[in-house]
Amino acid sequence: MNQMQFSRRRAMALAGLTLGAAAVPAATVPAPDRAKRSLRFAHPTDIHVQPELRGGEGMAACFRHMMSLAEPPELIICGGDLPMDTGSTPEEQSRIDWDLFKSTLARTVPASVPIKYALGNHDVFGRDKVACKATGNEPFYGKKWFLQNFGYERTWQSFDQNGWHFVILDSIDLLPDGDEFVCRIVGEQLDWLRSDLAASKLPTVVVTHAPIISVANYFDKDEDEWKTDGPDLAVSAKRMHVDCRDLEELFRSSKNVKLCLSGHLHLLDKCVYNGITYICDGAVSGAKWKGWKRQTPEGYGLIDLYEDGTFSHQYTTFGWQAEPAPKKEKKIKVGAAP
Ligand SMILES: [Fe+2]
Ligand SMILES: [Fe+2]
Repeated sequence: MNQMQFSRRRAMALAGLTLGAAAVPAATVPAPDRAKRSLRFAHPTDIHVQPELRGGEGMAACFRHMMSLAEPPELIICGGDLPMDTGSTPEEQSRIDWDLFKSTLARTVPASVPIKYALGNHDVFGRDKVACKATGNEPFYGKKWFLQNFGYERTWQSFDQNGWHFVILDSIDLLPDGDEFVCRIVGEQLDWLRSDLAASKLPTVVVTHAPIISVANYFDKDEDEWKTDGPDLAVSAKRMHVDCRDLEELFRSSKNVKLCLSGHLHLLDKCVYNGITYICDGAVSGAKWKGWKRQTPEGYGLIDLYEDGTFSHQYTTFGWQAEPAPKKEKKIKVGAAP
């Protein structure tokens, strides 16, 4: 299935995960009479590249597809979970996966196209020290490997391009043990975010790895895990931002934030609240190269930004057929981070 074959019917089926009537069709099908386009960018997230299950070939197929579009993106923002998993994988295998990630990008994306990176929970080396055979003293321990790979000083950043402001945040607030995490923006990053938003008057896109808000969380449980007899319908703090209310208020008061993109769940959904759109953008790897994750195929977000501050979003598949053939997804532990 390619982009053109990704039918409106399928898009509507996927829109079943949407809060807000008619919101997905309006955003996925650009109106012909809308304002001039400022920029087209791609948001491939949750690549989880590895040599196994033809993950390297799948990643290459994704980026080749993206760059061979009639109008390819002028910017790429990778949404985190770039190698399969460095959080519980020894250095040797983690290095193979990181090298595969970087070499695949180098041979599929022209150097003229800027690429930015958000940090995912699987990009943090040594979260499980035993499984990683890590001491904690490695020069690339924790988030340092991610930073070193891309020459970053911090795991968050912002920049302007073609009249739009982009903010890339680090969702992964590690707890003191360096293993568990909570999805939230705190401390120095939060201070920076407040100042950054206050200093810009441009329409703004925010990218996080974990969703700030996501309705797909309520559909990512098997029947026997879906409990409705308790007082609350709880969502794990490892699957969605616990500070969603604070961020929503901050974004709304800034008056410029239009779109928040995320990944992490490997599912496609869209929420619109108080005029800000939150899209969880599926996954390049689908269910980590084992086929679709529930109803979401392997794909990436393709976003057009317009001069009037509006945007359109298209979840774009690249014809990937998982090997071996997709079968029923492994049971997901309640509360487990994707
Ligand atoms: Fe992921
Ligand atoms: Fe993740």
